[in-house]
Amino acid sequence: MRVLGINAIFHDPAAALVVDGRVVAAAEEERFSRRKHGKRPVPFSAWELPELSAAWCLASAGIDVDALDAVAYSFDPGLCRDAVDLGLSDPWDWLRVDYARRAPQFLAAALPGLDPEKVRFVPHHVAHAASAGLAAPPAGDDTAVLVLDGRGEVASHLAGVYRDGRLSPLYSQQLPHSLGLLYEDLTRHLGFLHSSDEYKVMALASYGQPRHLGQLRDLVRVTDDGGFQVERIDWSSMAKAVAAGGELAEEHADLASSVQVRLEEVVLDLSRWLYDASGGATTLAMAGGVALNCVANARLAAEGPYRDVWVQPAAGDSGTALGAALHVAGELGDRSAPMAGADLGRGWSEEELEAELRRAALPYTRPASIAAEAARVLADNGIVAWYQGRSEYGPRALGHRSLLAHPGDPDTTRRMNDVKGREQFRPIAPMVRAERFAELFDGVYPSPYMLFVHRVKPEWRDRIPAVTHVDGTARVQTVHAETEPVVAELLAEFERRTGLPVVVNTSLNTAGRPMVDTPREAMELFGSAPVDLLALGPFAVHRGALGGAR
Ligand SMILES: [Fe+2]
Repeated sequence: MRVLGINAIFHDPAAALVVDGRVVAAAEEERFSRRKHGKRPVPFSAWELPELSAAWCLASAGIDVDALDAVAYSFDPGLCRDAVDLGLSDPWDWLRVDYARRAPQFLAAALPGLDPEKVRFVPHHVAHAASAGLAAPPAGDDTAVLVLDGRGEVASHLAGVYRDGRLSPLYSQQLPHSLGLLYEDLTRHLGFLHSSDEYKVMALASYGQPRHLGQLRDLVRVTDDGGFQVERIDWSSMAKAVAAGGELAEEHADLASSVQVRLEEVVLDLSRWLYDASGGATTLAMAGGVALNCVANARLAAEGPYRDVWVQPAAGDSGTALGAALHVAGELGDRSAPMAGADLGRGWSEEELEAELRRAALPYTRPASIAAEAARVLADNGIVAWYQGRSEYGPRALGHRSLLAHPGDPDTTRRMNDVKGREQFRPIAPMVRAERFAELFDGVYPSPYMLFVHRVKPEWRDRIPAVTHVDGTARVQTVHAETEPVVAELLAEFERRTGLPVVVNTSLNTAGRPMVDTPREAMELFGSAPVDLLALGPFAVHRGALGGAR
């Protein structure tokens, strides 16, 4: 069966293509439209579809629109209720629902040749659940699944269990109670962009003390049935509101810390309830925007009852495109295959990359090993724009569209945040060869998608200061030679030169822009930022060769 998945309703519009139960392509619309998160999550934008990524998914697999068996849309307007009844203050929500109802017609217009009858609505949290439970590596037994989200049609959370590819829901928390909306509210109060900058709040939290935890325990409570309640919170009573981009003070870090710790406690309680209700499933799979909170994930993995915790790398709404498609493929009789990696987006052949370099008239070479060439530049404390293979699905760069640097120089954090125009309190993350992980870090292993934080062992903190956060943690990506041979070679070569099995890895973009997707965008970034080497597939472009000063 050929099923195209579509996420369009709130934010992070995306498309995914599943053929015979296997994900063959998935991409976020922002990588094509170059608009961060694709669109703002307002009701007026709900009609907008991931047209470019959907067309690319089909073209990349050589599938015509009329050969699709179904299109899976990750929101079911039939489940919706009036926003006032749900306790939401969203006066235009009816417009969102109306647009969702007409999605089959909009899709038929966007994808000429599509029969609107082939469009199936998938409940939003069933799509999130499928993106975790059906895409996770096989567990050998039942897989518990926990969706922690901002909102779907009428709920914000789903706890369930997958048995033989079928979801049995166990509890779903109804709106307005929502951990995702709670975190979004705080994000807004701290002067950041909600539904976008929540990860900045998580980073800020590590600088604070949870002074308001007692109060938050009263305001955010778990219930006996596997759900939770969130009371109305007067944020200003705990820290004054920050204007957009305004100055942050200790009181703001303390508030962020308090909410973060309470979130972790609630997530732990929900996961324990689910463990019991699922009859002791050994694996937990997670999705939903809150599942991108890698600090909470790490605590859950360390203190929760599960042997394994797996988080969908596109845990936010973009991942519902993939989940909806897997869910409908299952309904049509296909058995889903676990996803092998997050590199599901666009890729270019060597010939195409070389043609782009020629077109740009850039002086390039083809070294014997691009990995060794990049390692040499990194060992000299240079910055490398690393562009290899297919782009990543989800918000993290995982060695395909990455900006790399030396972890041993304490100044690297400032240089990287300068290149990217980011706040200086934001940590940068390490990638490490899988076989060396345990020597340097404690915590969840393997961690190929950077969705957990780890403790840097004390004896290594001074050796890799650039990736050791203020609280002694690091958000590690483990690199496995079987799946990422070129990155593994780069790390091995860097270690040979420096004795450090770690490289700084951050996403290949500049502030406020989506990650680089095309070779041309990689060259544009290289030309506009102090990057020393562009490693474009097997080709190298050195800053020095351009005749400019470093
Ligand atoms: Fe969602």
